[in-house]
Amino acid sequence: MFNIRKNAFTAKICTGVTVVYVFITMIYFYKFTLNTAPKRSNDVQHKDTSDYNGTDAEFVRMYHSKHQLYKKNLIPNHMTQQRLLINEITNDGDVVLASFFVSQKDPQRNVFIRPNFNYIKNFYTTVFYHKLKTVIMHDALPESFIRKYETPLIKFMKTDVPVDFTVNDFRFIHYRKFLQSKRYKYVFLADISDVYFWRNPFEYMRNNSKSSKLFLSKDEGTFGSNGWMVNKMMQCYEEDVSQQNTLLRNDGAWGGETKAIICLLGCISRQLNITLKQKGNCNMAAFNWCVNRGSCLINNPIYTGDTLFNPFRHNCDSAKYAIIHDKCKNSHNKCMVIEHDKLFRRSCNR
Ligand SMILES: *[C@@H]1O[C@H](CO)[C@@H](O)[C@H](O)[C@H]1NC(C)=O
Ligand SMILES: *[C@@H]1O[C@H](CO)[C@@H](O)[C@H](O)[C@H]1NC(C)=O
Ligand SMILES: *[C@@H]1O[C@H](CO)[C@@H](O)[C@H](O)[C@H]1NC(C)=O
Repeated sequence: MFNIRKNAFTAKICTGVTVVYVFITMIYFYKFTLNTAPKRSNDVQHKDTSDYNGTDAEFVRMYHSKHQLYKKNLIPNHMTQQRLLINEITNDGDVVLASFFVSQKDPQRNVFIRPNFNYIKNFYTTVFYHKLKTVIMHDALPESFIRKYETPLIKFMKTDVPVDFTVNDFRFIHYRKFLQSKRYKYVFLADISDVYFWRNPFEYMRNNSKSSKLFLSKDEGTFGSNGWMVNKMMQCYEEDVSQQNTLLRNDGAWGGETKAIICLLGCISRQLNITLKQKGNCNMAAFNWCVNRGSCLINNPIYTGDTLFNPFRHNCDSAKYAIIHDKCKNSHNKCMVIEHDKLFRRSCNR
């Protein structure tokens, strides 16, 4: 009698447990399968992370685990302490520097850049994917934007741009100032709107560190064959370079060992702040001047392999290249996306 009642009681408990189990499984299924299918990162929604109480390292791992792109958007106030800690530890290792200035017209396009995530999406998605420590200099991004997109590894840093510099010129002066107080091993400097990474650029640099310290991308043609550059050199240096066949380099995507980069940035800063002061947007002229006529390359050989950068304006879809500087013709409306823990380049509308 007693045994039967006990069995009935056990059966009830079992049924109860099963019901609860099924319920929990359903919630779990909803939460992790339906609700969290990888979203395009610009329709990200705020997620509460207040249930997180681990160490910084775990926090970084959590935010960067697969398919979590949409989750990283909100770091609640009680995480401030941990954010500070992470800020301190980001002073070594490698770093990607970029800038997102919105308070001045883009000097090349003569339009204001809106604080719109789409503008930085491909860059952001791929530095996120490769877990690259990234510092984005900005002048006037709204706090809500920063809160939404800052992660333990992707930081926004406010800086004021003096009125007598264009934003494109000033970023290099600012990068130098920033790097001088840090201990990074490798640095990569990228235009934020059209650079993205198929592979980890620092791993690539380390793989080639025996032969190279600077990793510079090519532009189109030479000083003399590139009409834009002929005009630029006349505007900035009042020099006619139309007969010069020096290779033209692009300053929108370059990197290398920090010491070599600081040397080049020092040269560029001096050029922009002294020789080229008030001449307008002269960073490309200063950059090429420093590469070819400055002294930084004497002990810092340039990498000459051809799979680090895509050929200028070509092969923007090709994962054969570690870094894409996307100036290809048919690129508008193509987006870098993370799906099943892999990078793809797709139509943005999918
Ligand atoms: C995490 O810490 C906060 C504040 O210290 C606390 O209120 C919360 O209950 C903790 N959460 C967990 C899951 O331990
Ligand atoms: C670096 O070299 C290793 C070993 O050869 C290779 O597996 C890896 O893919 C290389 N990384 C990059 C980014 O090229
Ligand atoms: C530019 O040079 C002036 C004087 O030569 C100096 O005072 C100023 O700090 C420099 N500015 C930058 C941004 O380096």
